[in-house]
Amino acid sequence: MRILHVDASAKRERSNSRALARFFLERLRDEHVNVEVDYLDVTVDTPAHVNEAFAIATYTPAAERTPEMKAALAPSDALCRRLLEADACVFAMPMYNWSMPSAFKAYVDNITRAGLTYVNGPDGRIHGVLTRQKVLFITSRGADLRVEPYSSMDALTPALRAAFGFIGVAEPGFVDAQPLQFSEPAARMAALERARAELSTVAAKWAAAVEAQPASPVQTNQDAMASSVA
Ligand SMILES: Cc1cc2nc3c(=O)[nH]c(=O)nc-3n(C[C@H](O)[C@H](O)[C@H](O)COP(=O)(O)O)c2cc1C
Repeated sequence: MRILHVDASAKRERSNSRALARFFLERLRDEHVNVEVDYLDVTVDTPAHVNEAFAIATYTPAAERTPEMKAALAPSDALCRRLLEADACVFAMPMYNWSMPSAFKAYVDNITRAGLTYVNGPDGRIHGVLTRQKVLFITSRGADLRVEPYSSMDALTPALRAAFGFIGVAEPGFVDAQPLQFSEPAARMAALERARAELSTVAAKWAAAVEAQPASPVQTNQDAMASSVA
């Protein structure tokens, strides 16, 4: 299983989201999943913010793009390719100011691409291409957003659901570790324990799904698209 693993915490050794993502990959290996990781740290290799060249090039039909437009889109093309080549994605990030880290938002802006990660179908509707990938979001939060007064302030989960739903991810998984900062040590420990238990469950499910897959030729996103827009 080829896994695209993306980290987005500004912290390194002290990061809980990074540690939880590593824990998840270890659990998958424990479940005897043959894991091949494509790793991206968006705080190190931060995708470019949308600029004018990108904004114009991305909505210009591919056949009409100038060499300059193609060059403006090349890094985004490469990020889309990595996403499309993955069988599964693990996106780990902290909540920053109720939403996603800006480096991860820049990543989202780079992988939301007409003709690559979503297409206009013959029915006039937009179809996301990421229909075959399993996607897991591991988020870490300082507060506990499961309960008031913070539950109504969660702008992270809906934003991730919308952005990835648009490119075809219908049922992403979420493991949210909370509260990890604005709470007593016992509550933080319990939150990490809960997150690790949930991650172990997800790892077992992914392993069972891999096990149940018939040995067949590798399916591409083009294959998946062909059946979804047929
Ligand atoms: C700049 C910044 C903004 C933050 N904003 C929020 C927030 O809006 N809500 C929240 O619950 N926690 C917030 N936190 C706390 C982090 O989400 C929390 O500490 C998380 O566990 C960090 O994950 P990490 O250990 O992977 O870096 C913020 C932390 C930082 C550094």
